[in-house]
Amino acid sequence: LEMPMEGGGEQGRWEEERLKTASLSFGAKKEREKGLKAEREKYQLILEEDEIINFVSSAVIMKGTQDETEQEQAALSQAEVQKQSIQEVRRSLPVFPYREDLLLAIQQHQILVIEGETGSGKTTQIPQFLMESGYNDGGMKIGCTQPRRVAAMSVAARVAQEVGVKLGNEVGYSIRFEDCTSERTVLKYMTDGIGLCLKVVVVIIDEAHERTLHTDILFGLIKDIARFRPDLKVLVASATLDTERFSCFFDDAPVFRIPGRRFPVDIFYTKAPEADYLEACVVSVLQIHVTQPPGDCLVFLTGQEEIETCCELLQERCRRLGSKISELLVLPIYANLPSDMQAKIFSPTPPGSRKVVVATNIAETSLTIDGIIYVIDPGFCKQKSYNARTGMESLIVTPCSRASANQRAGRAGRVAAGKCFRLYTAWAFKHEMEESTVPEIQRTNLGNVVLLLKSLGINDLIHFDFMDPPPHETLVLQDIKYLLCFSLNISIFLYLSRYKCSEEVLTIAAMLSVNNSIFYRPKDKVVHADNARQNFVVPGGDHMVLLNVYTQWLESGYSTQWCYENFIQFRSMKRARDVREQLEGLMDRIEVEVCSSGGDIVPIRKAVTAGYFYHTARLSKGGYKTVKHQQTVYVHPNSSLFEEQPRWLIYHELVFTTKEFMRQVFDQGELLLSCHCCHLPLLFKVFRPLDFFHILFSTALF
Ligand code: CDP
Ligand code: MG
Repeated sequence: LEMPMEGGGEQGRWEEERLKTASLSFGAKKEREKGLKAEREKYQLILEEDEIINFVSSAVIMKGTQDETEQEQAALSQAEVQKQSIQEVRRSLPVFPYREDLLLAIQQHQILVIEGETGSGKTTQIPQFLMESGYNDGGMKIGCTQPRRVAAMSVAARVAQEVGVKLGNEVGYSIRFEDCTSERTVLKYMTDGIGLCLKVVVVIIDEAHERTLHTDILFGLIKDIARFRPDLKVLVASATLDTERFSCFFDDAPVFRIPGRRFPVDIFYTKAPEADYLEACVVSVLQIHVTQPPGDCLVFLTGQEEIETCCELLQERCRRLGSKISELLVLPIYANLPSDMQAKIFSPTPPGSRKVVVATNIAETSLTIDGIIYVIDPGFCKQKSYNARTGMESLIVTPCSRASANQRAGRAGRVAAGKCFRLYTAWAFKHEMEESTVPEIQRTNLGNVVLLLKSLGINDLIHFDFMDPPPHETLVLQDIKYLLCFSLNISIFLYLSRYKCSEEVLTIAAMLSVNNSIFYRPKDKVVHADNARQNFVVPGGDHMVLLNVYTQWLESGYSTQWCYENFIQFRSMKRARDVREQLEGLMDRIEVEVCSSGGDIVPIRKAVTAGYFYHTARLSKGGYKTVKHQQTVYVHPNSSLFEEQPRWLIYHELVFTTKEFMRQVFDQGELLLSCHCCHLPLLFKVFRPLDFFHILFSTALF
C-alpha cells in the first residue's frame, strides 16, 4: 500500500486544503460567525454539565454490579443508566442550548424556517421539545415529513427510544403502504399522505433543502393551508443550504439558525482524475485503515450495485491481509436493504476495530452516523432526469454538486477534527461541478406531478404556488394528457370486465407498481438468487413472472419465510398486496366484477395490450423499435424475455442506464391488430372523437 497521507502534500496522490467549515461558503457569513462565538460559550457550559451526568451514571453502574443478589434491581439500574445516557446524548446536541429560544420563536411565528447542520438534532429533538411543552395537549398531533423511507423509519425508532415508548404507540411512522402508528400516536414521521387533519397542530417539513418533488408540492399546499388555519404551526427544517429561498417563498418567514458544532475538516483532492472510482474507494479505505488513527469511515457511492461490489472487494482484501491489519467492519446502507441490516450501521464500533459505512447519498443529510472521522467522496450521485420528447425517464450517474460535496465533507467533522478524501481534482471541484443540485420538479416527468396534484384534489394547476414553477405550456399540455389517460384507465377496467381476468390484471398492476424491488440479489449469493428467480419464469414475459411470484406467495399464506427462501423482498410484496387491495376497492366502486381467467393467458394478454398499446415495440435488427417514436430500445438483461426476443412486445417502462432499456416486457403474441379492432368501439365510447384521433395518430398505429 502506497502513500502516507499525513503531510503528503507534495509527493503523494493527494492535494490538501484545509476547509474552514464547508457550510460557511453559503449564505450570511458574518451573522453565522457571530452565532458561532456565542454558541461556543454555551457549549462549554453544557460540557461541564455533561461531566456531572457522566459521573452520576458511573455511580449507578457501581451500585448495580455490587449488589449481585438483587438482579431485578440491577436490571432496573441498567435501564436507568441507558435512559440517562440517552438524556446525556440529547443534551450534547447543538440544538439543545437553543431549546427555549426556539420554542419562543415557534410561539411567536406561524411559519418558521429552521436551519442547522446535519446531525444537530432538528429531526429527533425539535418534535420532542414540542411534545414536552404541551403542543399535543387535548389530543393534538405533530407531523414530520421525510423525503426518504429509511430515514422516516430509523428516526422514528430512535425518537421512540429516546422518549421511552414502544415504536408505533406515542411515536410512530407512516410510509407508503406501511403504517406503524396507533390511536395513541402523537408524533408521526411520514413520507407521504400528509393527512393534514384538523388535529395536526404542528407540521415539520424536514430535509427541505433536498427539494424533492413531494417536498416542493408540500410547500405550495402548506402555504395555502396555513392561510386559513392560523392555529397551525409550520416548521421548515433544512441543512445549511439556501434557507433564504424558503424564507422568501413563505412571505419572509424568519430563519432560526442553529449554529453547528463543527470541527475542522481537512480536504484532500487527488492530483489527477481517477479512472475507476470504485477501485479508488477501496484503496483509499484500506489506506486510511492502515495509516490513520482510529475513527470510522464513510464512503459515498451511487447505488446498491456499486455499494455491494465495494463491500465485497473490501472484505476480500481484508481477508487476504488477515491478521496483518486490525478488524474492519464493512457495512452497506441503501434504501432496499432489509431493515435489520439497516439498523446495524448505528451500532457502536467495538474497540480496536474500525467501521466503514458504504452509503448512497442517504447519509449526506438524512441519516447521521456517529463516530465518522473520515469521508471518501468520489463525487458522483444517481440522478433522475427526464426527456420530454421521448418520454424517457433515466437514472444516470452524474457528478454531484458542490453543495453536496460540502455536505459530504461535513460528515467527517461532527465528533472531532476529520478528513475528507475527494477522488477528484480541486480543478474539477471548482470548474466541473454545479453550484447546487437542480430541484427534482425541474427534471422529472411532469405527468407525474400533475397526477399527484390531481390525486390531492387540486384542479387548478396553473395557479398552484410552486417555489420553482414548471414551464406553463408543459403544465397545460400535461393537464390535457392526464384527462386522456384517465379515461384510458377506465377503458382498461371495462376491458377487464369483458375479458374476465381482473384477478390477474389487478395482481400484475400491483406488482408493477413495486416492480423494481421484488427480487433480492445480494452480491454474495448471486447464483442462488438467480436460480430462485429463474424458477419463477413462465411463458409470456415479465408480467406473467410477477403474477407467478404473487400467486405462489399467496399460496404460502403470505409467508415471510417463503420470501426469504426465494430471494423475494418481503417488504415489497407486502406493499404489492396493499396496492392490490386498494385497486380491488376501486373496482368495487365502479362495480366491476372481480373474476379470474382460470389460467388462460389470452385474456390477460388482451387486457395488458389494451391498456398499454402505446408502449409497443417491434423487433428490428438486433434491437427493438418503439412504435410511437421509432426509437431503438433493448430488452433489459434482467427480463425473462432477454433471450427469447419475440416479434412484438409491450413494455412497462423505458429506462436509460448504459443503453435504452425496456423494463418489464410482455410478449404480445401478434395480438396487436386484432386487439385494436376490438378496442375500437370501446375507444369511441370513452373519448370524444377528436381526442380519439389524437391518440391514434400519436401512437401511429393506424
Ligand atoms: O436532523 P438533524 O440532521 O439535525 O439531526 P438528527 O437526525 O436529529 O440527529 C441527532 C442525533 O441523533 C445524531 O447524533 C444522530 O447520530 C442520532 N441518531 C441516532 O443515533 N440514530 C438515529 N436513527 C437517528 C439519529
Ligand atoms: Mg434531519
